[in-house]
Amino acid sequence: MNEQQSIRVYEHADELYRMAATFVAEQIRSAIDNRGQALIALSGGSLTSRLYPLLANAPLREQIDWSRVSIVFADERYVPFDDSENNYRATRQTFLDHVPVHADQVFPVPTYYRDPQQAATIYQQQLTALLTAHGGQIDVALLGMGPDGHTASLFPRHPVLTAIPAGALTVVVADAPKPPPLRLSLTPAALNTARAVVFVVSGADKAAAVAAALADTGDAMAQPTRLINPVAGTVYWMLDRAAAERVMQ
Ligand code: 6PG
Repeated sequence: MNEQQSIRVYEHADELYRMAATFVAEQIRSAIDNRGQALIALSGGSLTSRLYPLLANAPLREQIDWSRVSIVFADERYVPFDDSENNYRATRQTFLDHVPVHADQVFPVPTYYRDPQQAATIYQQQLTALLTAHGGQIDVALLGMGPDGHTASLFPRHPVLTAIPAGALTVVVADAPKPPPLRLSLTPAALNTARAVVFVVSGADKAAAVAAALADTGDAMAQPTRLINPVAGTVYWMLDRAAAERVMQ
């Protein structure tokens, strides 16, 4: 575990998501208080149903000046916006349609391009402009982790991990083991601009991957979360006891 990393364990998943939402809201408020704005990167998966509704409802909703928040996506399934698998769609349904953000504050991955590489190039340009406007950093990158240890759409031992061009902030991921197979992900370099990377992980099915991720040994390519080491930021692991079971021993 590196020095810029903290682990918090909560007895049950409900408490985990409540505390994680509260922590993320604090991080967003701090960014706005200190720099007048916040840039956040959102993941999909269970965060869309378990955590985002907490940000979209009282008391947290009223604690944030949403007009100062810009939102990008840590990854996206390369499907249309109206596809039930699309993270942007799910995040709108549980979060973004329920807080006062304007469309120009939200940057969905443009999955309407036939060529995903063109979308990746365009998203890189958008993220580069946002980073320039936000002091070079994402304020909060909110990430989950799969049972295999993947995060965003960075999958263990996936060929793309060793083929990401230097400086690339986005990457097309084909043949992802978690369906849908075609995705677009922020790269470790993009995520490592974060001031706060917050992994929110619950469930016994994640326990082995959490233990492997937090161990300082082994091949980082087998544990993509270990590629996430913010240049000037902190990694926060927020876990329920079931996910932390193998770490607590
Ligand atoms: C995605 C997510 C993905 C997710 C993990 C964990 O698009 O699938 O961004 O990275 O965070 O797969 O998902 P669960 O929390 O649902 O297990």
